[in-house]
Amino acid sequence: MEIKISPSLLASDFANLENEIKKCEAAGVEMIHVDVMDGHFVPNITIGAPVVKAIRRVTKLPLDVHLMISHPLDYIEDFARAGADIITFHYESKSPVQETIDKIKSCYCKPSISIKPATAAEKVLPYMDSLSMVLVMTVEPGFGGQKFMADMLPKIRRLRAAFQGIDIEVDGGIDSDTVSQAAAAGANVFVAGSAVFAGGGVANAVKELKEKAKAGMF
Ligand code: DX5
Ligand code: ZN
Repeated sequence: MEIKISPSLLASDFANLENEIKKCEAAGVEMIHVDVMDGHFVPNITIGAPVVKAIRRVTKLPLDVHLMISHPLDYIEDFARAGADIITFHYESKSPVQETIDKIKSCYCKPSISIKPATAAEKVLPYMDSLSMVLVMTVEPGFGGQKFMADMLPKIRRLRAAFQGIDIEVDGGIDSDTVSQAAAAGANVFVAGSAVFAGGGVANAVKELKEKAKAGMF
């Protein structure tokens, strides 16, 4: 599987988003991760479709939009129109799963489901054939800068054993150490916020994440 790095803008400078995204482009990332929180599904409020629309104007990179909201089905059209490429919603949300997947597809976006730490891999297995990606949360969703939960590794292994051709994304606490563990378990798409934006430079951070992911995978 191709290794893809998806920097989470949540840890970037919101007053300079264009510049932060240009740094990611120069570093050779594969996509940009946008965390949407509604203060209801998770205890934090971040950004919505208008910001996704603004980001769309300044980059051609795929926008990997992670909806941590209670009613994703009601907002799929908004985010698709704003320019999302991949739309991830939570299995634990209040929207019907298959209907939400179908809606994302009908808006010409790639559907992806995320599972929180307490949700078993088995819950998403019935939908895998209609998904482009599955996102395994390796922290409780809501905030950046949390510690990677190593007890999520068996869940990643279980999903990779069941499906070889699908992207498996990990999100939460991914850094130069934990990225290789996640890669060894079968993940190939790596979200990183703090590790990319809060360290010693975006280019170095992305290079290191890619190298360590590759080393873990083989
Ligand atoms: C957490 C978000 C993550 C977060 C990751 O709920 O989904 O994308 O920004 O941040 P780090 O990499 O700092 O754990
Ligand atoms: Zn996220």
